[in-house]
Order: sequence, then C-alpha cells, then structure tokens
Amino acid sequence: MRTRTPAPLLTVRGLSRRVGARKLFDIAELDFPRATAIALTGVNGAGKSTLLRIVAGLEPAPGATASWTDADGTAHTVPLSPLPMSLRRRIAYMHQHPYLFRTSVRENIAYGLRHHGLPRDEIDRRVGAALGWAGVVHVQDTAPDKLSGGEIQRVALARAKVLEPDLLLLDEPTSSLDGHAREQVIALIGELAAEGRTVVMVCHDRELINLPGVVRWKLGEGRLDTRHK
Ligand SMILES: Nc1ncnc2c1ncn2[C@@H]1O[C@H](COP(=O)(O)OP(=O)(O)O)[C@@H](O)[C@H]1O
Ligand SMILES: [Mg+2]
Repeated sequence: MRTRTPAPLLTVRGLSRRVGARKLFDIAELDFPRATAIALTGVNGAGKSTLLRIVAGLEPAPGATASWTDADGTAHTVPLSPLPMSLRRRIAYMHQHPYLFRTSVRENIAYGLRHHGLPRDEIDRRVGAALGWAGVVHVQDTAPDKLSGGEIQRVALARAKVLEPDLLLLDEPTSSLDGHAREQVIALIGELAAEGRTVVMVCHDRELINLPGVVRWKLGEGRLDTRHK
C-alpha cells in the first residue's frame, strides 16, 4: 500500500523582508505541516518575530500568499496582507510580552469569541473550559496588572486556545519565565500540539525544543532551514 504524505495545513509563498540593505529572509515556499510542533530558532535580529508576525497577518507582506485545500478538495489561495477572515479565524498569535486588556482575565479570554459573534452561553462554556485548562480559574475576575508573569503567559495561551485555531504562532513563550511558571507553560504548549494543532514557537528553551516530536526550523543568513537537526 502506498502511503501519501498528508497535505500541509497551509503553504505560504513569497515571504520576503528587507531591513534597509539587509535581506532578513526570502522564502519562496513554506509548508506548515499539520499537527506538528515547530521550534523556530536563529540569532537575535535574524527575523524570527517578523516572520511570525507576517504569517499572522500583522505586518505588510506585499505579494505573499497562503494556500490550503479543504477536506472536500477545494483549493484556496489568498493574500497574507490583509489577512482574510477565513484565515484569521484559524491562526492565533502570541506576542513575546502579551498585552492584556485592562478588564478581568475572563473578559480577556472572551474577547475574541465576542468579536466572532458567538452566543453568550457558548462563550461562557468555552471561556470556562479555557480558564480551567490554563489553571487560571482563581484569577478569572482579577485585573491583569495584578497577575504574575507566569499567569499572564497562561492567560494569553488560554486567549489563543479558546479560538480553537489550527495554527498557533508563539513568540518566545517561556523566555520571561523560570521555575514552576516555565514548567506550567511548557506543559500547556505540549498539550496544544498533542491536540493536533500546529504550533510554531520562536524558542531558545532547550526543554521545549526537545519535547517529543518537535521539528526545528532555523532562520539565518536570509534563508529558513526547515530540516535543521
Ligand atoms: N519595523 C521595523 N523597522 C526597522 N527595522 C525593523 C523593524 N522590525 C524589525 N526590524 C529589524 O529587523 C531585524 C529582525 O527583527 P526581529 O524579527 O525582531 O528578529 P528576531 O525576532 O529574530 O530577534 C532586526 O534587525 C530589527 O531591528
Ligand atoms: Mg524576536
């Protein structure tokens, strides 16, 4: 029996960025595999954050496109900027220093679902599940400026997960944490990948990079090595 490689979740084409005369990257085609955790590494200033932000639709990317094929075989190709709603709903991005709105934790997590116009009882159910998943039920009514660094990261992960994205883009999710807080975030990221989502994390954390099944991408000298060992 022949085995076929499953079609990628997304294929992005024409990802390029210059800063002045310096080429950060020029990537003709990049497949995001399904249900895979990917650690994106590279030296400071290599362009890792910029790459994530372009794929999240947060930076202009003239000419860049994303393509995918639905389960029924319908093929789609769309521009990456402005990112169309069909894709925006499938991609979640987490900034290195997540910004939380100055309301309660619960409202922060509910925000995206309200934006999508979901019914109130569905929002309550999903937010409750996400609070429990991230271990932040006890701070659900707390203002973000009263949270620890670890709690902020966990709330930001819950805010991403509650949208049930296929692709999570996490910029240095553990770099501001240590000890137990870091271990908790590593465990949550492992669960996101085990659920069958694709997680691309900019990361120097050995423990995250060495989680079972993590693929390494390395950005440097204008190119992305997707088979880095
Ligand atoms: N908006 C911008 N204007 C000018 N330079 C930028 C801008 N954004 C990023 N850069 C530069 O692009 C390079 C890559 O930045 P970044 O993507 O943050 O790298 P990394 O995340 O790998 O450390 C850096 O040299 C940075 O100074
Ligand atoms: Mg960065």
